[in-house]
Amino acid sequence: MDKAQQDALKKAAGIEAAKLIENGMIAGLGTGSTVRFLVDELGRRVQEEGLQFTGVTTSRRTQEQAESYGITIVDIDDVDHVDITIDGADEVDKDFNGIKGGGAALLWEKIVAINSNKIVWIVDESKVVDTIGKFPLPVEVIPFGAGQVVRKFEERGYKPVLRLDAEGKPVRTDENNYVVDLHLERIEHPQDLADDLINTVGVVEHGLFLNMVDTVIVGDPNGPRVLTNGNK
Ligand code: 5RP
Repeated sequence: MDKAQQDALKKAAGIEAAKLIENGMIAGLGTGSTVRFLVDELGRRVQEEGLQFTGVTTSRRTQEQAESYGITIVDIDDVDHVDITIDGADEVDKDFNGIKGGGAALLWEKIVAINSNKIVWIVDESKVVDTIGKFPLPVEVIPFGAGQVVRKFEERGYKPVLRLDAEGKPVRTDENNYVVDLHLERIEHPQDLADDLINTVGVVEHGLFLNMVDTVIVGDPNGPRVLTNGNK
C-alpha cells in the first residue's frame, strides 16, 4: 500500500468516526495523521452543519487544529466526564491490545482515554496485526537519568532507541519528556511487559494500551469496517 492509498483509508476512517460526535457531547480528540482527517471533518460539520460540542485534546497540535475550526477546547481537568474519545493507533491485535505513541503523545492520550466513557480508534488496515510489537513501542521517560533507563532496557533485551528529531536532538513530548522506542518485533506477553515498564523508575508512561479500546474503525478498500471489543 502506498502513502496515498493509506491516507485515503485513514481519511475514510476519520470521516466515519466523525459521525459519532453529537451535539452537546464532550469529546476527546487524539493525535496523529488519521486524527487530522477526523478533526477536518468535525470542523466541516461545525461550520456547515452547526454541530456544537466541546473537545478535550491529547496534544497541543490537535488543539491548534481544532481551534482553527472554531471548536471549543477545554482542559481535561475542566470537565466532569468525557463521552467519547477518538484516537489513532500504531498497531492493534485481535484481543484489542494496541500500541500508541508514534506521534509522541501517548501520555496525554492515555490520560484522556482512561477518563473517557467510550474509546474509539481509527486506523487503516495495515495497523491490524496478529501480534503487536513490529511497530517500535514508545516509552515516555523523564530526561534526568534517561541514559540510565536506556541502559536498563538494553540489559533486558528491549533494544531501546532514544527518539531524535531532524536536528539530532531528543524529541520532547508536550510534557517536555523524552521518548525511547523499544524495537521488540513481537510482544508475546504485553501485560508482563507493561508491568515491567511502569515499574521502572524514570518511566512516566508506555504506549501499551491493553484492552482499553471499545471500537476500532478500520479504513478498508471496501469501506470502513467496525471491530467491537466484546471483552470490556
Ligand atoms: C500519537 C499516536 C497516534 O495515534 C498514532 O501514532 C497513529 O498515528 P497516525 O494516525 O499518524 O498513523 O499514538 O502519539
